Order: sequence, then C-alpha cells, then structure tokens
Amino acid sequence: MKIVNSWNDFDPLKHVIVGRADNCCIPPSEPASKAKVPLNSPMRGMTGPRPLDTVEKANAQLDNLVKVLEGLGVKVDRPEALQWNQAVVTPHFMTGSMFGCMPPRDVLLTIGSDIISAPMSFRSRFFEHYAYSKNLREYFEKDPNFRWIAAPRPELGDKSYDMHYFDDHITEDILLERTAKLHMVTTEHEILFDAADVMRLGKDLFVQHGLTTNRKGMEWLRRMYPDMRIHAVNFPGDPYPIHIDATFVPLKPGLILNNPHRKLPKEQRKIFEANDWEIVDAAMPAHDTPPELCYSSVWLSMNCLVLDHKTVLVEESEKAQQEQMDKLGMNVIPVPFRDAYAFGGGLHCATADVYREGECQDYFPNQVEDPTLVKFEG
Ligand code: ALA
Repeated sequence: MKIVNSWNDFDPLKHVIVGRADNCCIPPSEPASKAKVPLNSPMRGMTGPRPLDTVEKANAQLDNLVKVLEGLGVKVDRPEALQWNQAVVTPHFMTGSMFGCMPPRDVLLTIGSDIISAPMSFRSRFFEHYAYSKNLREYFEKDPNFRWIAAPRPELGDKSYDMHYFDDHITEDILLERTAKLHMVTTEHEILFDAADVMRLGKDLFVQHGLTTNRKGMEWLRRMYPDMRIHAVNFPGDPYPIHIDATFVPLKPGLILNNPHRKLPKEQRKIFEANDWEIVDAAMPAHDTPPELCYSSVWLSMNCLVLDHKTVLVEESEKAQQEQMDKLGMNVIPVPFRDAYAFGGGLHCATADVYREGECQDYFPNQVEDPTLVKFEG
C-alpha cells in the first residue's frame, strides 16, 4: 500500500501530520536559538514550560485544524508529545530542556516516498524527531516503498556556531548586513538544515541559506538526490532568516508569493523567469506584532496550507492575504490559528506532508545560467 508520496506543496493533499502543543517549552538560550528570538522580544531570557492556558488554547486551534482537514477528506495523523521539559545531554553539549512538537514541518522533509528527519541546528530540538517515530514506524510497516531517512545527526558542539555572533553589541542593522552577506550563526563545521528551509517543486529543491541551514546541508541533499537540482536561495531583508515558508510560498504551478520585505535577489530569479513562473509580492499582514511569546514574525500571514491548485487554508484574521489569494484564483478557507503561533508557527509550519497526489514533475525544463545551483565546492 502506498502511503508516502509528496513532491511539492500544492498538489492535492490527502494525508498529513498535524502537530500538538502539549508540554511545549521555551528552551534556555543556546547559540542558535538566540537567533530566533528577536532582540526586542519580551521572551528573551524566558525559559521553562509554556503556561497551561496557552497550551490549551493552541491545542484547541490545532484540533480544529484537524477537524477542518478531515472534513475535506484529508487523513490526519498526530505526533506523540514527549515530556519536553527534560535536559538534553550528548557527548558534545548539554541544554536544559527540549522544545515541542507543534511544527512538524521544521523536522520532517518529505521528498517523494522518503521522509527525512532533518539535522536541525537547535540543541533543544535534537531529539524532537522521536515525537514522530510512531507515525513513521506505521508508514514503514505498511508502505514497502517508504524510505525512512535520518540525516547525519549533528554534533552541535561549539564548532557548529559562531559563538560570538550574538555578542552584546549586536543590532538589527548588523544582523541585516551579516545575513545579506551569508554570514550566519551556524558555521560550515557539519551538515545542518531544517526541513522548513526547503521549498519542494518536483525535481527542484529551493533551499534557504540562513541561520538554520548551511551549505553543507544543501550539499548533503545534492548527494542524496543526484537526479534533482538543489538551489541555494537567500532573502536579504530578513534579519532572522529561519524557514522559507513565511518568505517564499508556492501556491500552484507557476505562481509563488514572495514576502515584499524579503525579496529574492534579481540574479536568483533567472531560473523562474526562464520558465514563466510568476513571483508576486504577498499582501501586507493584518497585525503589527506577533502574538505574545511567539518566535515568528507577523509574516506568518503567508504561512498558508495549500490543499490543491485551487484551495488554500489561510489564518482567519489575515483578510488582505485572503483577498489577494482570492484574486489569484484560489478558494480560501479561513482557519483561526493565532493561538498556535507561539508554539512554532502557522498553518504550514504546523503540518507535514505524508501524501499528495501527483508525480515528480520538472517545472524548470528551460535551464539558464543559474547562480543558485548547488555544485560540489571541495
Ligand atoms: N522565520 C519565519 C518568520 O517568522 C517563520 O517570518
């Protein structure tokens, strides 16, 4: 029985994993996670289990998302929440607690009939993949073609980070300058990527080089998938380039929404232009600030879940984003989700693909000189 199949984020969705907020913690500061907490955020320095009432509210919206999806004929699986408030101790590091299993998108990368657990750069997220073992075991037992892949487990010792990146003198301007020059908190010591930095378009993977994904991570993907093309993209204008799905979001074949504050540079657009893909600026978010204790930006407005080439789930309060998608020919289903944001993101983050109809397609048959193409750099 075929269970796992997904080559992109827009073909008809039939089976998905939706996260849970149970036991979620704000982990102690660590070299990579400082990067995720904006400098002026009230959650800087806060740590420990998240307040129970916020967990309950997030779970109510996650459960509602499950109902909406099931009502539309999508099968939904859920992870097993661990007791995240436990220390992580390995030969290379120790940290006081784990994180949670709300955003499966960060951890699980589905490529065709493979699901890869990503070599994430946060120490607090080192064991997070265990929350999905029950799901993956089941797929493994039933689907003879499903390949369950763990990327090399990273060390995450001090060599994996620029330990001075977040020194006290850091400002948002300095961050903008550094990220535009591809100077990130993560080094090239070892293979690192988060699954949510990978935008899948059939034969092509567009991977954001940012605070959570390095060049070695892209090179690992290139060697794993020699028949695919891996592209390194980056978006100057984002001081915290973490996860591509509030920045560059495909809606259907030939159409991508781009965050207008984080534009794909001109020379990186060549491959899209040569193949008649339209890149449209996303509508402005409805909110000036993210919800309390939220790691992500207001641009979760774009973090939608596409169900097929004509249907998309968008957060309920994001009216401008809904109108824009409507004009772009999509049927929009509004879903309340802001109470879940603080636990790790929006509707796309909160899900991971198991099955979408459709095969691996080549959306970029016209090859041009493409500076994004990842090649061996030895
Ligand atoms: N890092 C992404 C944002 O907050 C999710 O915009």
